[in-house]
Amino acid sequence: MNTASKKLIDTLAETHTLGRQALLELLQDTSAETAQYLFAKARNARHRVYGHDVYMRGLIEFTNFCKNDCYYCGIRRSNAQAQRYRLTPEQILECCDAGYELGFRTYVLQGGEDPYFTDERIATLVRRIKQRHPDCAVTLSIGEKSRESYALYRAAGADRYLLRHETANAAHYAKLHPPELSLENRKRCLRNLKALGYQVGCGFMVGSPYQTVECLAEDLLFTKELNPHMVGIGPFIPQHQTPFADKPAGTLEQTLFLLGVLRLLLPNVLLPATTALGTIHPQGRELGILAGANVVMPNLSPVSVRKKYMLYDNKICTGEEAAECRLCLARRMERIGYQLTVSRGDYLHSSSYSH
Ligand code: SAM
Ligand code: FES
Repeated sequence: MNTASKKLIDTLAETHTLGRQALLELLQDTSAETAQYLFAKARNARHRVYGHDVYMRGLIEFTNFCKNDCYYCGIRRSNAQAQRYRLTPEQILECCDAGYELGFRTYVLQGGEDPYFTDERIATLVRRIKQRHPDCAVTLSIGEKSRESYALYRAAGADRYLLRHETANAAHYAKLHPPELSLENRKRCLRNLKALGYQVGCGFMVGSPYQTVECLAEDLLFTKELNPHMVGIGPFIPQHQTPFADKPAGTLEQTLFLLGVLRLLLPNVLLPATTALGTIHPQGRELGILAGANVVMPNLSPVSVRKKYMLYDNKICTGEEAAECRLCLARRMERIGYQLTVSRGDYLHSSSYSH
């Protein structure tokens, strides 16, 4: 294999850091040999911290109304063909109860930026979930809010917040979003969330339109600097009712490679093998775990609404069989030598696996 790439991976595995130029070089050699070498190192790092455990989070997609108009996203406000829905608090609590029985100890409430869900409504919802399931973590993923709003949710009991930065390059950000959205504000939100004591997740799409390796290197440098607890990455997948309908999807190979690099950059990070990865390849999530990921996020939303949360085309786990997601994932993980755990799956600070 390319000895320069091997050296870069060795340095990354030892020091957990690489400069911009080195990252650029590494990202340009995604040959199968280099990738396998990277994944073996990434698995080692992951096993030292998390063993063969795979954490699961129950994803509840509770509204697909959105006031934003991100060009890539199937539930953007300009998509007049989207069938809009919102779950009632009772429906959301039922999802949590059903999830609890299935062994979930983390709920991720995700949705578009839906003005119906005022700060009060979100805070009440979080409080009710925490009252019913005090041993569970609640993660919110509801977009850009003021520091005061984030503080209110935190006081209500929210533990974690997922807000992908989408791209760390401002010019690229402007090609993916309408002018009212800015990278600057996205970053400000992430810093506020961290300051408020949330466990924070940033992240980006791999292969989004107009993305270059330079953009990806910037994503990695920004992520390293932010030092989040979680990083959500998955391939961009076009949605046929969006302005990016004709753009090519991100690739399996590049997404896996970035998962491996992220594991070595931040050895303790919580790194999901996402649904989008499972959508572009039938074994995408297993391959993600084998590249260094340690989290899966099965869908807990009622089956009746799953087809309506169509961020991208052909999303998996939206059919009638979807209630079986947890069992299906457990089997998939066991087949590759890993196991799903019944735990909150918190970020571990230690570097030696001991349970
Ligand atoms: N509204 C919240 C926000 O903006 O953070 C959460 C919902 S948003 C739909 C969740 C994530 O879906 C985005 O951060 C984006 O990275 C991802 N996403 C949206 N459209 C996508 C697409 N076409 N392909 C892959 N991922 C997509
Ligand atoms: Fe709002 Fe996608 S544009 S969630």
